[in-house]
Amino acid sequence: MKYAVLSDIHSNYEALAAVLKRLATLGVDAHAFCGDLVGYGPDPELCAQTVKKLKNFIPVMGNHDMCLFNDDFFKWFSDYAKESIKFTAAHLSESSKKFIRAFPDQYHGKDFAMVHGSFFDPFRDYLLSAEQFILNLDKWAGSVCFVGHSHVPFIMSYKNDRMPQIDIFLGNDVTIKMMPGLRYMINPGSIGQPRDANRMASFGVYDSEKRTFRLLRVPYNIEAVQKKMLAAKLPDILSNRLTKGT
Ligand SMILES: [Fe+2]
Repeated sequence: MKYAVLSDIHSNYEALAAVLKRLATLGVDAHAFCGDLVGYGPDPELCAQTVKKLKNFIPVMGNHDMCLFNDDFFKWFSDYAKESIKFTAAHLSESSKKFIRAFPDQYHGKDFAMVHGSFFDPFRDYLLSAEQFILNLDKWAGSVCFVGHSHVPFIMSYKNDRMPQIDIFLGNDVTIKMMPGLRYMINPGSIGQPRDANRMASFGVYDSEKRTFRLLRVPYNIEAVQKKMLAAKLPDILSNRLTKGT
């Protein structure tokens, strides 16, 4: 199976459309989504309507998705994140809220496992260290696990005789061949709000038969999104982050 691996769309339709346009040239069988469909960006409903139509869409819930339904999570958010969640709640249809509410907090499938943050705390943990990788190892089976949340594209690999190796993807088209006997945790980066100093939308393609993961970056019309954010009166900090990619 060939899977698109998507994460952290954050209501950024222009970025999502650019990713889907590129994916159409690659041909995938299914779409794995590591969470945070909404929050921050100006187009929650359009993004929800778009992913609903994706072939074999396999989602998990992100913390921004969860905030729509859970006040305990909402109160921990920064002021600007709270503003964006209020905007999101006001601009999502009831059917799209129902759609998002049904996202599970983790996924364990034949070809991979998936969670937004970590298996210890799907909505708060930022999985970024070798120690966290080791602590999570007995929470999932198989050789591949996808995560999101940090908005930084990386691949961690582990063999039981050494500390996990962490590699941040720096290129705009990088293919990793997965080795037998190793276990991997992979973050495909963020589509709608990259934070690794690369403003292009980030996503991956996982081929479970060839055992490859390809990380791709695509440009999109950032200025068009920022215009919408200005019109929606979303906080400037969120708009500025798109320019910097941090
Ligand atoms: Fe996120």
